Amino acid sequence: MGDNLKIPQHVSIIMDGNGRWAKSLGKERIEGHKEGAESVRACLELAVEMKIKYLSLFAFSTENWGRPDEEIHGLWSLMLKSVVNETSNMLKNHVRFMVLGNLEQLPEYLRIAVRDCMKATASCTGTTLVLMLNYSGKWDIVQAANRFFAENPGKTMEREDMDKYLVTSGIPDPDLLIRTSGEERISNYMLWQTAYTEFYFTDILWPDFRKPEFRLALEAFSKRERRFGKV
Ligand code: FPP
Repeated sequence: MGDNLKIPQHVSIIMDGNGRWAKSLGKERIEGHKEGAESVRACLELAVEMKIKYLSLFAFSTENWGRPDEEIHGLWSLMLKSVVNETSNMLKNHVRFMVLGNLEQLPEYLRIAVRDCMKATASCTGTTLVLMLNYSGKWDIVQAANRFFAENPGKTMEREDMDKYLVTSGIPDPDLLIRTSGEERISNYMLWQTAYTEFYFTDILWPDFRKPEFRLALEAFSKRERRFGKV
């Protein structure tokens, strides 16, 4: 497979359904997140095989702070473990690692671990894995506007300025956005960047979303006709 497929440059995923997956098996929610981390690994592997340039993942939204402390800390330690354990694998597969979002509010140990992994993989030229962490689309637009006007007092903001000041600056807008678990919403994700993105929704819960399910999404994308507002 791979023949005749239009490969998107940037695939973004709203990974949803970890809690429901765990509940359906009578497990704790964190078990769903752990299994979800395996889906992250599988999807990254396929992205590398398919030579997808950017794979971005909505790992924690600014709204997720409303979850119980125990779950939030469980997520941080899971991410810490994944980042530390996967760095050598990323290097081997030429994966560049990036984290985008409001990082100031993250625990220091996690900030250090992601900074180290970003540094170690900075010169990798294969797939870029972008973890959107403590991110929301409205936060991004507001921080972009604030930074622009602080640096350019009295000026008018143009569309290109917004592209440049968003945290995703330099990364092409997502061609394909996948959301799992049957939810069909943008949920304050990349609001500006998804203006012409193709959306793909599936009922599969994130821990069950592995290479075959990712391939189906890529096949569906391949059949879409993108006109960008033209005829
Ligand atoms: C959504 O499921 C999932 C999250 C908010 C967290 C995503 C985190 C992971 C996949 C864990 C590991 C991440 C990395 C990058 C290694 P949910 O909890 O909202 O599920 P529900 O809607 O069924 O409750």
